[in-house]
Amino acid sequence: MTEIAIYGAGGFGREVNLIIQQLIKKGHPYHFLGFFDDEDKTLELGNSYLGNTEKLNNWKTPISIALGIGSGKIRKKIVERITNPQVDFSKVISPYAFFNDIISIGKGSIICAGANLTTNIVIGDFAVVNLNATIGHDTRLGDYSSVMPGANLAGNVNLKECAYVGSGASILNGIVMGENSVLGSGGVLIKNLEANRIAIGVPAKILEK
Ligand SMILES: CC(C)(COP(=O)(O)OP(=O)(O)OC[C@H]1O[C@@H](n2cnc3c(N)ncnc32)[C@H](O)[C@@H]1OP(=O)(O)O)[C@@H](O)C(=O)NCCC(=O)NCCS
Repeated sequence: MTEIAIYGAGGFGREVNLIIQQLIKKGHPYHFLGFFDDEDKTLELGNSYLGNTEKLNNWKTPISIALGIGSGKIRKKIVERITNPQVDFSKVISPYAFFNDIISIGKGSIICAGANLTTNIVIGDFAVVNLNATIGHDTRLGDYSSVMPGANLAGNVNLKECAYVGSGASILNGIVMGENSVLGSGGVLIKNLEANRIAIGVPAKILEK
């Protein structure tokens, strides 16, 4: 039996809990302990609130952590703060995702219901593929990258570390999104996007601030 908890008690954390509960119903050997969060959630969660990073870093027995946090940059910050050798990071794959053996998925990544991944896809550590996203052939999703609900990535797309694809956005074949870059919700990316840039619209253009 694996003792598992979620870091992040917000909306996405509760969605990750739903996946874990569905996996348990299907016989996956998880025992769900509750939620960690930076903020004290005792009032909302009672005994299911397990504490903050400090509490996790003092946890005395093996514990698996799933990250229930939508932003890759924040996932990265939290992972960097967790130093306890008792902690390992679960990859959590919805039983309702379309998924196969020729996809490699790194530790701590989350694949949500309805996500459809095809062939020769490599997903790094701590990535998120959210509800109903489609990921085409030969695509690379870097560490801490995020593909939000209903986004569509064609073949050979390459998301670098912490790249973020907003809900309902699309990316054409062979496009590279640089580190920390963001494609806004509903955007269609037809050219490579440099690191640390935000692009919006159809076709997507750089958002200058
Ligand atoms: C692109 C995005 C990151 C920009 O956020 P931001 O930096 O806070 O930008 P602002 O909200 O200040 O908007 C700046 C301008 O861009 C426009 N804009 C913002 N997001 C846009 C989008 N997705 N498509 C088109 N235009 C957009 C705004 O209307 C505003 O235009 P204006 O200056 O003419 O008024 C954000 O809007 C977005 O799309 N995030 C993804 C959300 C998502 O997918 N969430 C999934 C949750 S599960």
